[in-house]
Amino acid sequence: MPRIALATYDPEGAPNRDRDLPVLVDALRDAGADAQALPWDAPDVDWAAFDLVVMRSTWDYTWRTAEFLAWAERCGKLTRLANPVDVVRWNTDKRYLGDLAAAGVPVVPTRYLAPGDTPAADDLPAAGDFVVKPAYGAGARLAARYTPAERQTAVAQVARLHAEGLTAMVQPYLTRIDVSGERALQFYGGRLVHASRKRAVLSPGTPYDADKVAHPDLRPWTPSTAERAVAERALAAVPGGAGLLYARVDLVDGDDGDPRVMELELVEPNLFLWLHPQSVPAVAHAILTAAVAPAG
Ligand SMILES: Nc1ncnc2c1ncn2[C@@H]1O[C@H](COP(=O)(O)OP(=O)(O)OP(=O)(O)O)[C@@H](O)[C@H]1O
Ligand SMILES: [Mg+2]
Repeated sequence: MPRIALATYDPEGAPNRDRDLPVLVDALRDAGADAQALPWDAPDVDWAAFDLVVMRSTWDYTWRTAEFLAWAERCGKLTRLANPVDVVRWNTDKRYLGDLAAAGVPVVPTRYLAPGDTPAADDLPAAGDFVVKPAYGAGARLAARYTPAERQTAVAQVARLHAEGLTAMVQPYLTRIDVSGERALQFYGGRLVHASRKRAVLSPGTPYDADKVAHPDLRPWTPSTAERAVAERALAAVPGGAGLLYARVDLVDGDDGDPRVMELELVEPNLFLWLHPQSVPAVAHAILTAAVAPAG
């Protein structure tokens, strides 16, 4: 009986918001595995006793990244960890978009301002709306959309990100998102299992430190050939990507109408199985296959 741990986080009393977790635990148990959900930072867990540890909803990692990566490093030495720690480390820092661009993958054009870099006059776009957001982040935390007239507020946000030790990202606001939304293509075991689409998250005038609805109006989506092609090119460009168990590729249309990678989520993607219950068997099968695969 394969032993599988699904790594999650401890929301300290609040109910765990990972709706995929109980569904996956049940599906894996029904398929004959000994499956358990465990917080990644739970003390005294014998990770070596599992054939496979899958990062599922380690959603506190964005504010505990060093600690989380140290755990992943340890865990990956004790047993098989998905995704592999090197991929995870690369993916926790959104500067990976630069690596994808260098490999010829269409991505949202991005400028990075590390702590210590004061925004120069040409670092914030003079024309068109733009976005400032952190290079480590999730749930649109500390992200905002600005007009060129709001430059001073944007500079203050960059300073706030720097004060938290975060690198700031500056991107043009891709206006087509207001019409065609953002698409998330989900891969498991090397196959596209489903896709969803959501509305734009950032509205004009919403302060960067306001809470945002992360997945407004999420719906099932049938990806176009162009979307699939960009997603597959992105996955092919991941360093060490041959070892991926799962991936979510988030795409938004550029001004030319062609899809661009907004985010590649290889650490703890929300799977949205509640919206795609037909994918549960395929996901459970991919996890089981990885758990019993020969080492190496
Ligand atoms: N350049 C952009 N143009 C238009 N919208 C953007 C842009 N960058 C971010 N957004 C909006 O902000 C949201 C959050 O941005 P992003 O996905 O990059 O950060 P995140 O914090 O990792 O979010 P999440 O974890 O919720 O996916 C996006 O889903 C999108 O609606
Ligand atoms: Mg996102």
